[in-house]
Amino acid sequence: MSAPPEASEPPGNAKGTVSSAVRKDTKGPEGQVMPECTQLDGVQALPPGQTLPESTVLQAVDVRSAGDDVLRSMFAVATQIEREDVPEPPWVPELEWVAELRADAGIQDRADWLVRDGAGAPVAVGHFYASRSGENSHRAKLVVQVAPAARRRGTGTLLLRLVTGAAHDAGRTVVQTWTTAAGPGAAFATRWGITAEDELELNRLRVARLDRTLIDRWLERAKERAEQYELVWWDGRCPDALRSTYAEVRQVMNTAPQVSDHVDEVFTVDKLDELEASWAEAGLPWWTVCARQRQSGRLVGYTELAFSDEEPALAYQGDTAVDPLHRGQGIGRWVKAAMLERMLRERRAVEVVDTDNAGSGDAMIAINRHLDFRVILRTERRRADLADLATRLG
Ligand SMILES: CC(C)(COP(=O)(O)OP(=O)(O)OC[C@H]1O[C@@H](n2cnc3c(N)ncnc32)[C@H](O)[C@@H]1OP(=O)(O)O)[C@@H](O)C(=O)NCCC(=O)NCCS
Repeated sequence: MSAPPEASEPPGNAKGTVSSAVRKDTKGPEGQVMPECTQLDGVQALPPGQTLPESTVLQAVDVRSAGDDVLRSMFAVATQIEREDVPEPPWVPELEWVAELRADAGIQDRADWLVRDGAGAPVAVGHFYASRSGENSHRAKLVVQVAPAARRRGTGTLLLRLVTGAAHDAGRTVVQTWTTAAGPGAAFATRWGITAEDELELNRLRVARLDRTLIDRWLERAKERAEQYELVWWDGRCPDALRSTYAEVRQVMNTAPQVSDHVDEVFTVDKLDELEASWAEAGLPWWTVCARQRQSGRLVGYTELAFSDEEPALAYQGDTAVDPLHRGQGIGRWVKAAMLERMLRERRAVEVVDTDNAGSGDAMIAINRHLDFRVILRTERRRADLADLATRLG
């Protein structure tokens, strides 16, 4: 499925969750196609004994064509959930979130919904998204977020039905989602039989706490331990001459802790083209540093770091991976130390570096702990078979 369902025919309709469209704005300013809206006929969508405010409005959003105001309304919900989970700033800034969502939509199948209350304030969002192709195209990712003040009224369940319906229409068979380990999402997901598979950590490094002598020591040690290798840097798109070996080394991420239905990804240069175009569209500057085996010219390890121009205090650690054949020589520490050393020199405004790690990724966690990355949020990666989930949702 390449586009969200028509609002006049929402997937929920078949299940009696949404009434026919009552508002159908098709043209906005300058002829822009506006997302269409449907009025919730909520009561019959809800588990027994619950009600939705009658004036609640559900809007199917086509992220690629929606105006900034609609996407900002979606951000308004997402940022409330982020602040609930991570009480201390910095948080993902608004324009960056909007740009990333649009860029993601360029390379994903997706369907998105926004719920507003009677006063027009955004209160909930639902997202289905998935890779268009590739080895894991059986998997749908689902996100349902309801603002704290609007919870326990069935809105989350309604959105879960919609995103599950969209995933089904797109031919997916497994759903994946994430919940904060101790939060309401865990109880909600468990209620619907979406079970926890493994734990993830959001780790944050406070640059002020970073031991710069440790960075120097790791760089110094790499000279002895990894002398058959050299560092190669680029900013943004990978240079043409390295694209093939870089695409190959990215496949090492298959060896990171994965969920049970994971199928190893074959990472081609075409996929790299697509991914980099999407990152460029999102507008976040990013740096890559790789370890190259001098003799063969092959890239054997890498790390990535992205920056936020809108929130200069924030940097995002992307993948770090070392080919299993080249592990145990300090290459992981080397690329991480080299990247942080450059960041300290060239991006002096950065105050925190955030990174997601699988709770079972021992080597990566050991490196990050030495650098004083600290866990700020524990989440669970959860899954369900889509057919079973659809049956439970009724
Ligand atoms: C999880 C979340 C979406 C639930 O939204 P909601 O609108 O409150 O959900 P519903 O009202 O449809 O709840 C359905 C059922 O889930 C369970 N549930 C939901 N929140 C719960 C909580 N805090 N404690 C215990 N059970 C809970 C209950 O069984 C509930 O039915 P009940 O109210 O009749 O007992 C919302 O709390 C949220 O946005 N959390 C943060 C984001 C997140 O974790 N999303 C989930 C993963 S995608």
